[in-house]
Amino acid sequence: ADLYGETRKNSKGVELGHAASRLALVEGMGKFSLPLVDAKPLGAGLSFKGAGRAVLSPVDGRTVVGSVADTPLDQVGAIFDQAAKGFQRWSRTPVEERAAAVSRLGDLLEANRDRLMAILAREGGKTLPDGIAEIREAVDFCRYYAAEARTLFGEGTLMPGPTGEENRYRHRGRGTFVCISPWNFPLAIFLGQVTAALVSGNAVIAKPAEQTPLIAYEAIRLAYEAGVPQDVLFYVPGDGSVGAALVKEPRVAGVAFTGSTETAWAINRTLAEKRGAIVPLIAETGGINAMLVDATALPEQVTDDVVMSAFRSAGQRCSALRLLFLQEDVADKLIDMLKGAAAELKLGDPADAAADVGPVIDKEARDKLLEHVAVMRTSEKLVFAGKGPQGGLADGFWVAPHIIELSGPEKLTAETFGPLLHVVRYKAKDLPKMLDTIAATGYGLTLGVHSRIDATVKTVVDRLSVGNVYVNRNMIGAVVGTQPFGGSGLSGTGPKAGGPAYLTRFALEQVVSINT
Ligand code: NAD
Ligand code: ALA
Repeated sequence: ADLYGETRKNSKGVELGHAASRLALVEGMGKFSLPLVDAKPLGAGLSFKGAGRAVLSPVDGRTVVGSVADTPLDQVGAIFDQAAKGFQRWSRTPVEERAAAVSRLGDLLEANRDRLMAILAREGGKTLPDGIAEIREAVDFCRYYAAEARTLFGEGTLMPGPTGEENRYRHRGRGTFVCISPWNFPLAIFLGQVTAALVSGNAVIAKPAEQTPLIAYEAIRLAYEAGVPQDVLFYVPGDGSVGAALVKEPRVAGVAFTGSTETAWAINRTLAEKRGAIVPLIAETGGINAMLVDATALPEQVTDDVVMSAFRSAGQRCSALRLLFLQEDVADKLIDMLKGAAAELKLGDPADAAADVGPVIDKEARDKLLEHVAVMRTSEKLVFAGKGPQGGLADGFWVAPHIIELSGPEKLTAETFGPLLHVVRYKAKDLPKMLDTIAATGYGLTLGVHSRIDATVKTVVDRLSVGNVYVNRNMIGAVVGTQPFGGSGLSGTGPKAGGPAYLTRFALEQVVSINT
């Protein structure tokens, strides 16, 4: 039982180190033939005809994973009309019913694990450990937000007051929430936003990233099967122009966005320029995430944690380590160990159990990352470049892990969203200066510290306004309900996904005072 006395089920894992369960998963995924999904906009009153565009796998740039018919921009108004009707009923539906539907969705995700995993691997390039972790995170979001909603959205709380007066403080849905998500957690972040908004009593218009519409379509179908009404939840695929049109709509009651800082600024500008209600924006964006390692840290542990933090998921996590600060006394040794460990990573088809690193999401991402490497190769020092994948995958979007030593931390000026690790040496006396440089990036998402000196850890943690700090461990994979996730500054508006304050941001507060 947790803080609230609720007993929640843990999401089911897979013991991937165990050959039989790994094989069972791969066989299960293999049962679904291509194309896996033909997606089109979903929701009450919507009917779309017309050919979809092909969704190609980043693994080889050729395999047609499925197709998607994007949402015509002229339909946005009609979708809001339908959502407004659904909201009237859903916002008055007892929270227990809303929570039960969301919780059932968690169960359905688990029951459909192999199919979801097949789509995540083919469409999103997710390796088995990443895909399974993502499905678990989605399940955890469903169960956590359902439990949170039962506590928060019940009858409300009686506030103290004079005799003869009842003052009840309660939360209720805001209206139609627009949820816009990125491709790098196309199931977990997509559903995290959607379930938080739904369980809080809103109608939801969900726009997945243009690179990963198929897994989102499956998720919405399962949400309907779980009991979420079709006039309350709308699946609206398309690119940024669809997102922009949704945000511009006068009837938007709130926006939940996860993606780049650049896009968050654009959405913020659109909302600010509208006349009418002032619309809240929940934005979760990127980071130039740093880890500081001093001479007291355990080298083997640092090596494991850095490799995991920088290269897992091909570095395509907002939480991933980008800038590693090594105290100069231990830098040579650690760089050697990191090169050795990175050289062991196998790039390959993510549906193959032996792959450690999958492809990056698309050609644009690959070209941008390789361009960065080309520039760094001449201006800074490239200390390690990994090997590409073996056997017939050359046309896919591959970027091998790289380690680049910088002459100073200021040389990294933007988030590099892939498996590129930048290393900076520092002298112990310069630690405050290094911390100032990290603070000066303006980001505040994740931070790693490896030190066995408590005072150093405290100095670092106190100096930096960072959402998630990890001490003597890796810095990715925040667990729902345990490590609420999200940052500040250029990294987002907060609050934290998977944390106790999240749902309050999707809801209106109301006080009803009755003269009894
Ligand atoms: P992106 O900003 O390009 O796209 C995100 C979403 O916004 C997509 O659905 C896209 O279609 C939509 N969009 C684009 N332009 C829009 C506009 N003008 N108006 C409305 N919607 C628009 O980001 P991405 O490349 O998909 O994702 C990678 C970024 O996401 C990285 O910066 C990463 O750090 C960040 N991220 C942050 C978190 C977090 O929790 N803080 C989690 C995952 C990813
Ligand atoms: N929540 C994800 C992580 O912690 C992004 O890695």
